[in-house]
Amino acid sequence: MTPFALALAVAAAAAPLARAGVYPIAESMAGDNFLQGWNWPDSFYDNTTSGEVFWYGTAEWNNSQPLIYKTARNTTIMKVDDTSTVVANPWHTTKRFAPRLLSKRAYGVGTVWVLDAIHMPYGCSVWPAFWTVGPDWPVGGEIDIMEGIHHQAVNQMALHSAEDGCYAPQTNQALMTGNWGSHNCSIGYSYGSGCTARDTDPASYGAAFAAAGGGVYVAEWAADAIKIWFISRPNVPAALTANAKTIDTSILGTPTGYWGNKDCTFTRYFGPQTMILQTTLCGVWAGLASTLASNGCPAYPSGEDCYTTYVHGDGSNYRTAYYEINYVNIFSAEVSTTPGVEGGLPADGPVAGNNNLGRQQTTAVTSSIMTKSDGATSLVPVTVTQNIPDVSAAPTAAQSARSRAESLVGSAFAFAAFASIVAALL
Ligand SMILES: *[C@@H]1O[C@H](CO)[C@@H](O)[C@H](O)[C@H]1NC(C)=O
Ligand SMILES: *[C@@H]1O[C@H](CO)[C@@H](O)[C@H](O)[C@H]1NC(C)=O
Ligand SMILES: *[C@@H]1O[C@H](CO)[C@@H](O)[C@H](O)[C@H]1NC(C)=O
Ligand SMILES: *[C@@H]1O[C@H](CO)[C@@H](O)[C@H](O)[C@H]1NC(C)=O
Repeated sequence: MTPFALALAVAAAAAPLARAGVYPIAESMAGDNFLQGWNWPDSFYDNTTSGEVFWYGTAEWNNSQPLIYKTARNTTIMKVDDTSTVVANPWHTTKRFAPRLLSKRAYGVGTVWVLDAIHMPYGCSVWPAFWTVGPDWPVGGEIDIMEGIHHQAVNQMALHSAEDGCYAPQTNQALMTGNWGSHNCSIGYSYGSGCTARDTDPASYGAAFAAAGGGVYVAEWAADAIKIWFISRPNVPAALTANAKTIDTSILGTPTGYWGNKDCTFTRYFGPQTMILQTTLCGVWAGLASTLASNGCPAYPSGEDCYTTYVHGDGSNYRTAYYEINYVNIFSAEVSTTPGVEGGLPADGPVAGNNNLGRQQTTAVTSSIMTKSDGATSLVPVTVTQNIPDVSAAPTAAQSARSRAESLVGSAFAFAAFASIVAALL
């Protein structure tokens, strides 16, 4: 045996991890360490889906009512602000705070992303998503692992590519337990609905998810396919734990959603994916009146819209708009050196380590001026008060125009969501 052959033999004998479907842990976010793998945006309005939220940025961590905190049972709560009173105004410059987290590192083929939660946000106007996005959207592609609005009956998954050439043929139906939805993943097709799949298990979303004790979402990007599983709590394999050193996706059975590489060369249409966990309100999908009836919500009162009906007021509409997370794990051969996409700031604010994840308790902040810039576009100056919301000055005409223009800004997620609606209506 040559040294080279010997080395190969040793490597083979010592490499159970090389077996297809088995991946070692790369990053684990849970308990005191939950925040360490994430960036978060500055306190900026939701410029991707035009949701009626300001992202919960570093400046908000010092407020008295944390939106992200650890519970006594080591779970992480990540919730929409349900305690501040928001006074609606015609310019929509008052909004509600909601958290958005973006993974610090982006991962490519050979990765499994896992979210174990016991509660996920739901309710009229509420739009949660656990998804991944590549660089320079839409060029880098997008994987929607969990997404929905209002009291949607089941989870909807989707893939999106920028160019034509990425498909999910109906023959995929035989390879998945969910319902295959559409075949052309490119954003140029059918309003960019993407190639979708819907779970058949009501416990995959909303109140039924929580009633079953939650569950686990697993998304695998392997050389042969992208696969997504949802596993309701009673069926979660014992091997899937926060501390698991590996994951073997072969034990998970038939995936809920399946997209094969032979119909979409993922390394061509998808770049390294940044994992995102967020909740927005209203916006280009959940804000549409046409989505209400089919998702268990009443029509808006005459003259009202999503913003004035739900976001406005004392926040009591949002008592169920929270994640309670056991852990988020990323499995891959190694910790990625590829930074996540823009839209997040380095985690230079709160430091993990105490019961509210490092957030310092101070007296209630009654007002904070949010004048933020994204470089190309400045947000209109807004006064957002945590306890006594008010607008100190009406926007000028120019600012209103800019605000309207900004509200038209789309994104992958937004466009995809809008397209999903259109597709669902077709
Ligand atoms: C939070 O409060 C601490 C202490 O009051 C202060 O040093 C820190 O700069 C504050 N952080 C932010 C982001 O305002
Ligand atoms: C929470 O996690 C810490 C370690 O991060 C552990 O010491 C503690 O026992 C855990 N508490 C509970 C209630 O599980
Ligand atoms: C898929 O969508 C693209 C638009 O991006 C279009 O050019 C192409 O013809 C579509 N393919 C089929 C088979 O419909
Ligand atoms: C959206 O806001 C973020 C800052 O939170 C910024 O980095 C990004 O460039 C903005 N995107 C658009 C399309 O305006």
